[in-house]
Amino acid sequence: MLVFVVGLLYFYALGSGRIVRSNDIKGTRFVCSAIPKNVDPNCPLPPNPVQSTSAQEDELRGTVMQLRETVLQQRETIVNQQGTIKELTSKLSRCETAALDSLHDRKYPGQGSWSQDHGKNTMGDLPRDPAETIDHLGKTMQGLKDRLGNLEQQIQVNASTAAHSSEMRELLKSRLSELEKQLLGKVSELEEEKSQLYNETAAHRHRTESTLNQLLERITELEKGTSKFKSPEEFKLSLPLRTNYLYGRIKKSLPEMYAFTICMWLKSSSSPGIGTPFSYGVPGQANEIVLIEWGTNPMELLVNDKVAQLPLSVGDGHWHHVCVTWTTRDGYWEAYQDGEKLGSGENLAPWHPIKPGGAIILGQEQDIVGGRFDATQAFVGELSQFNVWDRVLRPADIESLANCSSYMPGNVVPWVDNNVEVFGGATKWALEMCEDRLYDS
Ligand SMILES: *[C@@H]1O[C@H](CO)[C@@H](O)[C@H](O)[C@H]1NC(C)=O
Ligand SMILES: *[C@@H]1O[C@H](CO)[C@@H](O)[C@H](O)[C@H]1NC(C)=O
Ligand SMILES: *[C@@H]1O[C@H](CO)[C@@H](O)[C@H](O)[C@H]1NC(C)=O
Repeated sequence: MLVFVVGLLYFYALGSGRIVRSNDIKGTRFVCSAIPKNVDPNCPLPPNPVQSTSAQEDELRGTVMQLRETVLQQRETIVNQQGTIKELTSKLSRCETAALDSLHDRKYPGQGSWSQDHGKNTMGDLPRDPAETIDHLGKTMQGLKDRLGNLEQQIQVNASTAAHSSEMRELLKSRLSELEKQLLGKVSELEEEKSQLYNETAAHRHRTESTLNQLLERITELEKGTSKFKSPEEFKLSLPLRTNYLYGRIKKSLPEMYAFTICMWLKSSSSPGIGTPFSYGVPGQANEIVLIEWGTNPMELLVNDKVAQLPLSVGDGHWHHVCVTWTTRDGYWEAYQDGEKLGSGENLAPWHPIKPGGAIILGQEQDIVGGRFDATQAFVGELSQFNVWDRVLRPADIESLANCSSYMPGNVVPWVDNNVEVFGGATKWALEMCEDRLYDS
């Protein structure tokens, strides 16, 4: 009986011990495993491979989720950046329009090229340098690449140390490489967009700059070229004093010529003798072509220092239209006053070609090319529409010039503002209407 009680107690103790053990296991996972007969049940079991693989899988799954999230974030970033690119492009074009408008308004500071000034010009709220944005994109992408690299490394380390099935490893590897491919695709897409944005910005800026420079050049040319006058030929030269330093000069020279017509409007305010309305001197011949009325002498046309006396009289202080024609053939010449031919003759420097490369001086007689003037030969008064043709004009052409029914610029020397320089106090003024000159004469 006693033996039975002791045996019962022992059994009880043993049983409660078992119960405690099974309670320990509960809450994690209950696993049945066969224990070989010759193994002591008290010895620790080797690590359960199933349990380990499962934990690893969870971890890797987590990683995959993380990567997926990264990709989503990346996609969002890309969408945002596409938005930025569009915004930048529209701002650039708005900026261009604004810059052009301000050019048209001529508020743009006159000289200098756009390239020099555009840094100071308002670019709206455009970031100062698109390169900044691009750098930012680059950094973001580098960060993502680094994170991906780290994850890959970790997984490889964990995979080699953990004992999980190669199947699972392969699966995870392929998923990861898929994700990596997607990510890299997005990255290269973004990089291409970055480069495109950069190129487009540069090209756009280049186009804008060249357009603006062209406009500036044209405006500068217009400002320099065209006159303050109504049209470039509607001006007159005023030579108010009898001096040897006050004159106008035609910038262009004459070519070699075998005939010419020279016309002008003039209004003399000196008498007797109107002086020298114009002279053309060439190296070796200061009197290649000269129109002069000196003292009480009649008006003269000189060609190669040969003289023809002209029956013209324009010293009454009113406007007159004067033309002289000449041809090398027999040295034939004509003289017109107010559209009417008053004289003609022959043997004025016959067979002489007019020499090129000299100086046309308005208001002074040259003793050397472009200089050594004489105050007693100066023209005092007003001069306009001095035009030179390399042919003999017909009488009707000259009459219509003189009666204001037409205006024809010279084909060799046209009367235009930017072709006439003034010196010594000579000035340019707006020319009165042709009809007013006509009624004045
Ligand atoms: C790899 O294992 C380490 C610890 O062993 C853990 O901290 C890390 O998160 C694991 N990485 C991955 C990607 O599972
Ligand atoms: C941008 O310009 C560079 C150099 O001119 C060129 O190599 C590249 O292909 C261009 N990128 C794009 C997207 O046009
Ligand atoms: C001006 O001269 C031209 C050419 O001779 C002539 O045809 C025209 O009728 C003239 N005009 C006037 C208004 O006299």
